[in-house]
Amino acid sequence: MKISVIGCGYLGAVHAACMAEIGHEVVGIDVDELKIELLAEGRPPFYEPGLPELLTTASASGRLSFSTDVSAVASARVHFIAVGTPQLEGSNAADLTYVHAAVESLLPHLKPGDLVVGKSTVPVGTAAGLYARIREAAPGASLAWNPEFLREGFAVKDTITPDRLVYGLAPGDDTAESLLDEVYGAALANGSPKVVTDFATAELVKVSANAFLATKISFINAMAEVAEATGADVTALADAIGHDARIGRRFLNAGLGFGGGCLPKDIRAFMARAEELGVDQALSFLQEVDAINLRRRERMVDLAKEVVGGDVRGKRIAVLGLAFKPDSDDVRDSPALDVALRLTELGADVVATDPQALNTALRRKPDLAVALTASQAAEGADAVLLLTEWREYRELDPAALASVVRVPAIVDGRNCLDPVQWRDAGWHYRALGRP
Ligand code: UGA
Repeated sequence: MKISVIGCGYLGAVHAACMAEIGHEVVGIDVDELKIELLAEGRPPFYEPGLPELLTTASASGRLSFSTDVSAVASARVHFIAVGTPQLEGSNAADLTYVHAAVESLLPHLKPGDLVVGKSTVPVGTAAGLYARIREAAPGASLAWNPEFLREGFAVKDTITPDRLVYGLAPGDDTAESLLDEVYGAALANGSPKVVTDFATAELVKVSANAFLATKISFINAMAEVAEATGADVTALADAIGHDARIGRRFLNAGLGFGGGCLPKDIRAFMARAEELGVDQALSFLQEVDAINLRRRERMVDLAKEVVGGDVRGKRIAVLGLAFKPDSDDVRDSPALDVALRLTELGADVVATDPQALNTALRRKPDLAVALTASQAAEGADAVLLLTEWREYRELDPAALASVVRVPAIVDGRNCLDPVQWRDAGWHYRALGRP
């Protein structure tokens, strides 16, 4: 199948490479020349395990190319829209500028029988509008909405073996369904379940999945608040309730909360859309989900104050982790970066480190003091804060780290260390939601 992918960010670049990997002929399009150059050289402009290798093999096979010229889509039959839908400045709503621009740029190149496939996360109702526009400007072409559920850090696996495929189709559009079946033949043969539905349901599947995940995290973080007031241990609580198969243990890790380019902006855009639809009450709980999540960052700053004796001014604080989660260099709405910046603003002498996210963090905050390793960041520290649970931080040797700090005090913002081991090594250990 000849495929084009419009937008080569986290979603589009991975999708393009994976589609080529499974045998399709793919062209990736982006307006950013540098991004296209790097991708063509097999060097993605962001960290995603397995992607560089995939780009290299796919390009060598001749099945994957990149261009800034949208006319390169002319020979493709299926065109994926994978551009970003960030939060609008000064509002909760999603910015759809890039989605509309991508579709408009495609229109002159669409042939009868072509299928445009939306992958971007959009407010419900967007696909219906785009479908009308495509039918008017390119009769004979059609649209499907096919949301993406990949997780950063596992993007390649999630794309090649998705845990479900959702097709939002115009009524009776069997051609679109069979084209998508051909695109996803390998995943379907592998047993990925397929849900065929209408545009609105497909759009809602995506945002409601992210809203559910965000709610699960904020639920356990709300329990962490209660645990803090009672001396209970939220990690034991999560283990215990997680044994109930109806609840499940995944996404019940209490700590600094969720961030990234998806969960925070998606729940806000969902609330904004619900308000437009007159069903804001149905989603008012998401306001609380957002508030609980943001309170964890404040609590972390308070704990940092507590362990250094009340005032962080002039105190050396080592921050381990800046990415919004491990195995990513993404610092969009990162709780870790947020805490590091809040402490800096309060006058702390913060030195931060991260295995992958130093450059992305420095792009946002050029004067952030950084170190290359945990032990360099911790040198002479009055407190160490573990804010992103990278494996190398989870496996830190407490005795070795104790030998470089000024005061052996650690706040485990991700509940990923063994308190007994750290206390035995002489550390003052604090965590979120744990005694
Ligand atoms: C999320 C969803 O998990 C994907 O299914 C979805 O496709 C994607 O958004 C998207 O909309 O594109 P992602 O943003 O990569 O994926 O990250 P997650 O793994 O979901 O983690 C989100 C945040 O929640 C991270 O900051 C993580 O540290 C935090 N988290 C996660 C917790 O605080 N506790 C947990 O138990 C799990």
